[in-house]
Amino acid sequence: MSKSSATTRGLSHVALVCSDMYETVKFWEEIGVPLVKMEELPGGGQHSFHDMGNGAMLSYMTFQGAPAAAPGIASQHLDVRKDGAKTAIASMNHVAMDVPKERFDEMVGKLRALGHKVFTINHGSDKPFDKEPDAKTWIRSMYFRDPDNIAFEIASLMRELGTKEDLAPQVKNAKGERVDYVPVLLRKTREAAE
Ligand SMILES: [Fe+2]
Repeated sequence: MSKSSATTRGLSHVALVCSDMYETVKFWEEIGVPLVKMEELPGGGQHSFHDMGNGAMLSYMTFQGAPAAAPGIASQHLDVRKDGAKTAIASMNHVAMDVPKERFDEMVGKLRALGHKVFTINHGSDKPFDKEPDAKTWIRSMYFRDPDNIAFEIASLMRELGTKEDLAPQVKNAKGERVDYVPVLLRKTREAAE
């Protein structure tokens, strides 16, 4: 987004826990996300940093005796279409990387050629599962899993966000009630109109 009003400057890294650092490094290097830093952790584990582009990094940690994966709690269910995408509060549900929209289809092809299962959604579209996005598509997403079945997405924004329509659904509180809260970007629009 070109006219960001954020105080921070994008993602530094997101750190996940994997079972086999070698499998994970190889997986991402084949896709085009190269290892740029490896650290040794006390206790025999390792901590990796992989360049996702645009200054953002993906990171993994290994721990001796790490608790087993907990699909549906700490990470997404293996079959989201059957079991849904629900995970526990404070869990890492999925990580999404950005790819320019011109390279979306090429990226889907690359993942499939590497043998990964990929499914795509044109979000906002009247036909979200069509091969081509329509004018209502605001983001195109491809979903796949890493060697530990952690859910990943590579997505292409189709337009800038933050419009009145984007911010129309009023936020809900923990009870599911709509709260009379006006997001900052809408307040700015209102002030500008006054
Ligand atoms: Fe997402």
